[in-house]
Amino acid sequence: MNEFLGKRIVLGVTGGVAAYKAAELVRLLVKAGAEVDVALTAAGAQFVGAATFQALTGRRVWQALWDERMDNGMAHIDLTRGATALLVAPATADFLAKLAHGFADDLLSTLCLARDCPLLVAPAMNRQMWENPATQRNVVQLRSDGIKVLGPAHGEQACGEVGDGRMLEAAELFDDLYAALQAKPLAGRRVLLTAGPTFEALDPVRGLTNSSSGKMGFALARACAEAGAEVTLVAGPVTLATPRGVRRVDVQSALQMHDAAMQAVPGQDVFIAVAAVADYRPRNAAEHKIKKGSASVTLELEANPDILAEVAARPDAPLCVGFAAESRDLGTYAEGKRIAKKLALVVGNLVQDGLGGDTNSVTLFDETGSYGLPPADKSEVARGIVKHIVRLLEGTNEQH
Ligand code: PMT
Repeated sequence: MNEFLGKRIVLGVTGGVAAYKAAELVRLLVKAGAEVDVALTAAGAQFVGAATFQALTGRRVWQALWDERMDNGMAHIDLTRGATALLVAPATADFLAKLAHGFADDLLSTLCLARDCPLLVAPAMNRQMWENPATQRNVVQLRSDGIKVLGPAHGEQACGEVGDGRMLEAAELFDDLYAALQAKPLAGRRVLLTAGPTFEALDPVRGLTNSSSGKMGFALARACAEAGAEVTLVAGPVTLATPRGVRRVDVQSALQMHDAAMQAVPGQDVFIAVAAVADYRPRNAAEHKIKKGSASVTLELEANPDILAEVAARPDAPLCVGFAAESRDLGTYAEGKRIAKKLALVVGNLVQDGLGGDTNSVTLFDETGSYGLPPADKSEVARGIVKHIVRLLEGTNEQH
C-alpha cells in the first residue's frame, strides 16, 4: 500500500521510553511511500540514537536549531514548509507543557510554533503525570489550539504501573495519522456494516461456516471511519483487529448477526452488508457432541432471515449497499440482487479464487449503470466504494 506516497512527514521525537515505537512508525511510514524527516530532541536521543532514525529514513536527522545544513540557517522554519504533517511521538508531559505555552527553546518546539502544516501529538508518560491537572489543562489548551491529540492508551507502563498514558502502538499512530489527513465527507453520518462469515452450530464443537476472512468488511469500516462517519461493525467470527474509532459487535450465527444489526439500525444513514451470511442453519443443533457410528447422518436445515432485505424494507431504511460474490455472470446476478432487495448499490466481486485474499476487483451496480474499480488492495477498493456511497448520499452520482 502506498498511503503516504508523495507525502513528507516531519516526526518529532522527545525523551520517553516510547521513542522505540517511533522507530517502528518511521518504518511503516517509509514503507507506505512517505519521506520522513526526524527532529530529535536531546532527551529523545537518550532513548534512541540518531543513527537508528537515519538508517530507517535514509535521511539525516535534525537535532539543533543551528544546523549548518540549511543554507539560510532556518531549519526551524524550512523543515515544515511543504510538509504534509508534523507529528510528535512520543510527546512527553514536559513537551506538551512547552507547546501549550508557546515555548520555543529547541529545534522541535520552534518547529511546532513556526509550522505551516497540521500538528499532531502522541502523549507518552506515567499515568500520574497524565492525570495531573497541569497536564490535563495543557491538553485542553492544545486541543483548542487545533492540535490533534492521538491517545494515549490505557495499559501497563514502563514503570510497572497500570493506567492511562501509554503511547499508542506504531500501527495505531499510522492509522490515526492517515485518517487525520483525509477529507471527511461522511462527517455527521452513521454507518452500520456486517462483515465476515457466520457460524451455524451443529453441536457444541462443530458448525457450518465459510471462508470469508472479514477483510473486505473491516477495510470498509475503516474507510468509513476515515471519512468521518460514526461506524458500527457487526462482525462474524474473524481474527482481525478492530479498525480505529469503530464500534464493534461480535456475533457467531446469522440469527445473532440479524439481531445485532436490527438493534443498531435505527438512526443509521447507511447500511453496508458485506458479510457472507449462511442462508441456512441446522434446524436442531445437538446439545452434545455428535458421535461417530452411523454410516450416514442427515442434516435438516432451515432458512435464516435475510438481514439486508429486511433492513432495506423498513420504512426508515438507510441507504442500503449489498455485496454479491459470484463465480460467473457477475452483472446478471449482482443487478438481480440490487433490484430484488431494492438496494441503492450492489458491489459485485468475482470470487473464482475463493474468499480471504488481500486484494479485490469489484464492479459497482446502481440505478445509473455499472462502474468497475481497478483491482487493488482491499483498503484501496474500500475507499473507492466509500467515494461512490458519498456520491449516492449527495445525489451527485452520474456516469463517471
Ligand atoms: O471477507 P473477505 O474474505 O474479505 O471476502 C469478502 C466477501 C467476498 C465475503 C465480500 O466481498 C462479499 O462479496 N460478501 C457477500 C457475499 C455474498 O455473495 O452474499 P449473498 O449473495 O449470500 O448475499 C447478498 C447480500 O445479502 C450480501 O450483501 C449479504 O451480506 C446479504 N445477506 C445475505 C444473506 C442473509 N441472510 N443476510 C444478508 O444480509
